[in-house]
Amino acid sequence: MKTMFQTLLATAILALPMAANAAGAAGALPASGANVNDVGSLQRGAKLYTNYCLGCHSAEYVRYNRLAEDLELGEDLVMKNLVFSDAKIGDPMAIAMEADDAERWFGKAPPDLTLIGRSRGADWVYNYLLSFYRDEHGAWNNTVLQNAAMPHVMWKLQGIQKPIYETHTEDGIEVRTITHLELETPGTMSPAEYQDAARDLAAFLEYTSEPAMLKRKHIGVWVMLYLALFALIAYLLKAEYWRDVH
Ligand code: HEC
Repeated sequence: MKTMFQTLLATAILALPMAANAAGAAGALPASGANVNDVGSLQRGAKLYTNYCLGCHSAEYVRYNRLAEDLELGEDLVMKNLVFSDAKIGDPMAIAMEADDAERWFGKAPPDLTLIGRSRGADWVYNYLLSFYRDEHGAWNNTVLQNAAMPHVMWKLQGIQKPIYETHTEDGIEVRTITHLELETPGTMSPAEYQDAARDLAAFLEYTSEPAMLKRKHIGVWVMLYLALFALIAYLLKAEYWRDVH
């Protein structure tokens, strides 16, 4: 019986980190380190989003008053710092641009990003934001999303990266691939600061994909504690029942 109790406890302890990791097992891209439980990071991400992304990408399923509550900002701060349109506190994070116009301007309408943290994952978004470069014709491109129709909107912060190529022959055909990107013109942020900014944005977009995650993870800890406590009580009860039998 003792072993059963030990197994129960071990399972409870093991299940905790497993549950936390389940969401983060995406492909081979370097990890972003985005943390949805870091409220400061979410606040900075929201600020970057409204300044640099909301011009083109809506986040239609998020309302400003939800941000006020979840990001511990309060409605006044949200209205002052995050709302640049005539939107009201109960409105969703919409854009003024028409999809038709957007398609004409960019060749592709910028998608709504509320759920991007689920479809692509925070690591993908983080790496995408770090991987813009200017090719030899002066056009923006991206190594994570080839021929992306999106310009590098944060180039003043990151600076301008140029691609370093490697050429090799495959079946007699010369193939040129990019080995890495090199910062050619520095931006207003250092590379480390820009990585932090990309991480904050990735965390914010992971949060918008599932705002309930904040509460769910919080509740999860209590559920595990309850299970551990309940296992202990069950064990003590069993010991009490069996004491006279032996
Ligand atoms: C000037 C308009 C514009 C701005 C501003 C802009 N984007 Fe984009 N974005 C686009 C367009 C257009 C696409 C479609 C690219 C494609 O599929 O080729 C796109 C695509 C994306 C995608 C990939 C979506 C997918 O799954 O294919 C992500 C992620 C993204 N943008 C994030 C951002 C973030 C974060 C910001 C703010 C830092 C931002 N964008 C600012 C126009 C913009």
